Amino acid sequence: MVCHRVINSVFWCFIFLVVLVTFFTTKVSSSKQSEIEGMEMNVIDQCWRFNPEWRKYRQQLALCSVGYAGKMTNNIGKDLIHYKVTDHSDDPLNPRPGTLRYGASKIQGKVWITFQKDMNIKLVRPLLISSFTTIDGRGVDVHIVDNACLMIYKATNIIIHGIRVHHCRPQAPGMVMGPDGNIMPLGQVDGDAIRLVSASKIWIDHSTLSDCQDGLLDVTRGSTNITISNNWFREQNKVMLLGHDDGFVRDKNMKVTVVYNYFGPNCHQRMPRIRHGYAHVVNNLYMGWVQYAIGGSMEPSLKSQSNLFIAPTVGKKEVTWRKSSNEVGDTWEFYSVGDAFENGASFMETKGGQVTKPNYNPEQNFEVADAKSVRSLTRSSGVLQCSKTSIC
Ligand SMILES: *[C@@H]1O[C@H](CO)[C@@H](O)[C@H](O)[C@H]1NC(C)=O
Repeated sequence: MVCHRVINSVFWCFIFLVVLVTFFTTKVSSSKQSEIEGMEMNVIDQCWRFNPEWRKYRQQLALCSVGYAGKMTNNIGKDLIHYKVTDHSDDPLNPRPGTLRYGASKIQGKVWITFQKDMNIKLVRPLLISSFTTIDGRGVDVHIVDNACLMIYKATNIIIHGIRVHHCRPQAPGMVMGPDGNIMPLGQVDGDAIRLVSASKIWIDHSTLSDCQDGLLDVTRGSTNITISNNWFREQNKVMLLGHDDGFVRDKNMKVTVVYNYFGPNCHQRMPRIRHGYAHVVNNLYMGWVQYAIGGSMEPSLKSQSNLFIAPTVGKKEVTWRKSSNEVGDTWEFYSVGDAFENGASFMETKGGQVTKPNYNPEQNFEVADAKSVRSLTRSSGVLQCSKTSIC
């Protein structure tokens, strides 16, 4: 026996074997490929992450979305403009070629934006993203940070993937280049990471949003057909608002899918808070909350399906929150189907009635996973670490 000849004592033989085993397991896990093969990937990620040549085929991503945004087929095709951000600076009125604003606001038509290198982009004013634009941060580390952040205003067919948006601050009214490349006046903004105003067919995937003055994601003013997937929301009091004010009844048509996101640590409330519209909140992981996880007012509809709600150790255990409005009927449709609850979490459902189905068309539809899989399906939420040589 090798051990016996090389090493005398049983003790050292044991140590030798431990070292041997450790060596082999580290060797295996250092290859990202095998790590990925052992991973349970959700349906969006499965669609492109297995391809080690994803850099060559970045546009494959557009066909991977599910939920109300549907497939992002209008963001790719023959007439697609490939634009690379090389300059982290910002000029809100006359953006230089090479900057993010030049690609996102000035260039019209289908634009696929990538980044030459890691960068911190401090925006002087909110960035108004044009229709048919994709912002693809895969392979580099892109931060939008420390001042103004992202806004989608009267625009459609937009993908935001793989960027970090944090420490966003309120902005005074002022002039800025609009999504059509024309200079326009923009009112006061509150300091949200991403704000949608009258936007449709928007897909926000694998981004990390945190620590902003107001909220992380606002979907307002008749915005609809939105998918929010694979994101990591952390360190925030008010996380996600769907439907901005009580009076805006056009938000009755709002449809939002919230899937495979990770909420926490230190998210207090609004994950999301819904007004008027319908949200399908499915296969997300909630790592605690302070006030509540999901809430609403103005007759919202919610199908909470196969999420994992882990209540905070101290404080409120109830997932939901309802605000009554004096004038309009205090009716909520809050249904929980297949959710899992840990640490004493509870969900107050609407009594009676029928859960409203999302009624997805075939390109929006996807198979909902069991709540037992949510931990592993959300493990790579937020910005992915994509190494130079291997799978993302
Ligand atoms: C939302 O998507 C549905 C299904 O694709 C479509 O019929 C509808 O027109 C879209 N609504 C808007 C406002 O884009």
